[in-house]
Amino acid sequence: MKALILSGGKGTRLRPITHTSAKQLVPIANKPILFYGIEAIRDAGVTDVGIVVGDTEPEIRAAVGDGSAFGVKVTYIRQQAPLGLAHAVKVSHDFLKDDSFVMYLGDNLILDGITPLVEEFRRDHPNSQILLAKVPHPEEFGVAELDGNRIVRLVEKPKQPRSDLALVGVYMFDATIFEAVDAIKPSFRNELEITDAIQYLIDQGRVVHHHVIGGWWKDTGKLEDILEANRMVLSRAKRAIHGTADADTRIEGDVVVGKGSVVTNSLLRGPLCVGERCRIENAYIGPFTSIYDDVKIRNSEIEHSIVLERCTIEDIPVRIEASLIGKEVRIQRSRRKPSAYRFMVGDASSVDVL
Ligand code: G1P
Repeated sequence: MKALILSGGKGTRLRPITHTSAKQLVPIANKPILFYGIEAIRDAGVTDVGIVVGDTEPEIRAAVGDGSAFGVKVTYIRQQAPLGLAHAVKVSHDFLKDDSFVMYLGDNLILDGITPLVEEFRRDHPNSQILLAKVPHPEEFGVAELDGNRIVRLVEKPKQPRSDLALVGVYMFDATIFEAVDAIKPSFRNELEITDAIQYLIDQGRVVHHHVIGGWWKDTGKLEDILEANRMVLSRAKRAIHGTADADTRIEGDVVVGKGSVVTNSLLRGPLCVGERCRIENAYIGPFTSIYDDVKIRNSEIEHSIVLERCTIEDIPVRIEASLIGKEVRIQRSRRKPSAYRFMVGDASSVDVL
């Protein structure tokens, strides 16, 4: 069995972060989202992994390499344009050959992994196995309509969803999927939808199993979803202080502080993680916050947020919350005259002031 991870796409709902960086590499609890998927696949015993990439290929390659750091062997497959998930399967035919495979969307996070699901697929070998999860806004997903335990219909982003069961971005297929991806036509959004390809399998009388998953799952396409994912992963963190904290610092709960980080006169209230070589001074870092490497935070308070590498946050009089702060951002209190807000922010940024 092989794995196919889709790691292309433009990440429009995460601009401006995705102007300069792949959405699959946004860190959740200081680890890129994509790495959780690779680890879940490896843990399920699948080590021959194809990663479908688009314009952000160099960045994905730099982060994942040949896969040996994860114990897998990675083959990169270039998709020339984001023409849909079923199109990604098409362009991967040479890599997949006629093997069964698990397809994993690189921005999806399933907290409990996929091992039992892959085992079940291997045991029962249906033509396809899909995962479903109850969601509050099914119209944002592919939606399954069931009759008892049978899938009747799968519809991509229906305006009037017939159920609240969304297709999770993890699918298992045998080689019959290649006939399906060749047979379907582009959708309303001009993409070859994997949802339509699975519907084709159903229409052809193929065996499609489904599983309603009970555990936590997220498609991390939007800021709120990323913050929630960060919250869920951090809630399982275990205290580990590798850096140094002075006597005036209080550390409460599950707090991770990376090597070379120095914390002085601060309150760190977990669950939270601080990366390596950070300077935290006279600050409050609150629950569900992930601070990446080489960040400086002085005289400021922050919680329920993600701060990427090499940022500086200084002298901010009001607590920062529910924020995703990109790489090398400076947020500081100005002493210049006239006293005013001054911004230099990227396209499609969003700034809330008091
Ligand atoms: C894709 C699929 C959709 C599925 C979702 C899960 O949506 O088309 O059926 O429910 O992933 O993450 P997209 O992320 O392309 O909007």
